[in-house]
Amino acid sequence: MPSCILETEKMIVYQAQLGDFANLNHLIVCKASLKAVIIDPFYSDYWLNFTADNGWDLTTVWLTHTHWDHSKAVPDFVGKEIWVHQNEYQRGWNGPSNHYWNNPSWSTIDLQFGELKFKAHSTPGHSPGHMAFSGEGIFVTGDCLFLGRCGRIDLFGGNKKHQRKSLFFVREILEKLPDYWLVLPGHLYELSEGYSPSMLSIREVLAENEALRAIDENEAWESLDFLSFDDEMAKRARVQERSSKRS
Ligand SMILES: [Fe+2]
Repeated sequence: MPSCILETEKMIVYQAQLGDFANLNHLIVCKASLKAVIIDPFYSDYWLNFTADNGWDLTTVWLTHTHWDHSKAVPDFVGKEIWVHQNEYQRGWNGPSNHYWNNPSWSTIDLQFGELKFKAHSTPGHSPGHMAFSGEGIFVTGDCLFLGRCGRIDLFGGNKKHQRKSLFFVREILEKLPDYWLVLPGHLYELSEGYSPSMLSIREVLAENEALRAIDENEAWESLDFLSFDDEMAKRARVQERSSKRS
């Protein structure tokens, strides 16, 4: 069962950590319309059954980005609206998606879902078409921003300069939002020994996030040890990069 992490007059938000990469899925339910949107689903039946059991119509999928762990279930959401930023094609995404955001990098557009009002922010860097969503008391940051750090930039389509610019962009947005709103990331990482929350307030993230604190200084930014890794995924990304330049 997913955890209910927020209920307001207009909305219910559920969170579940699913799959091999322990990706955080977020379900948003509009109480007025009884419609639900799932962000970055790893399993389809899990969410389709859960929403059906509660009498909600899961109509829509929003993808923060198209890495495997955030989009694995998408082919099984037959007949649903599947939204993704078109720049994800730059990293080889070829669907299935049927609705596209195309706002310029580091810009914001309005998103209406039932009676709920959100904003979608283009935040490239971890992936070329990465999006983050804010509104109604939450900020879903995907793999752009985790609670204590940020997403890596060494996968195919990643870009370190873009990621830094996105973090400036996100920080500006966070600073203007009510500081008690919840930041909901794409993955958990331990903040301190034994402490791995799945959400924090904006106030806590602004105070504690190592990446947001590092972006003002080149030296601090360059010394972050979580922007790239020496692992199989990074090796594969280098091969993809070389073959994309050849073709
Ligand atoms: Fe990712």
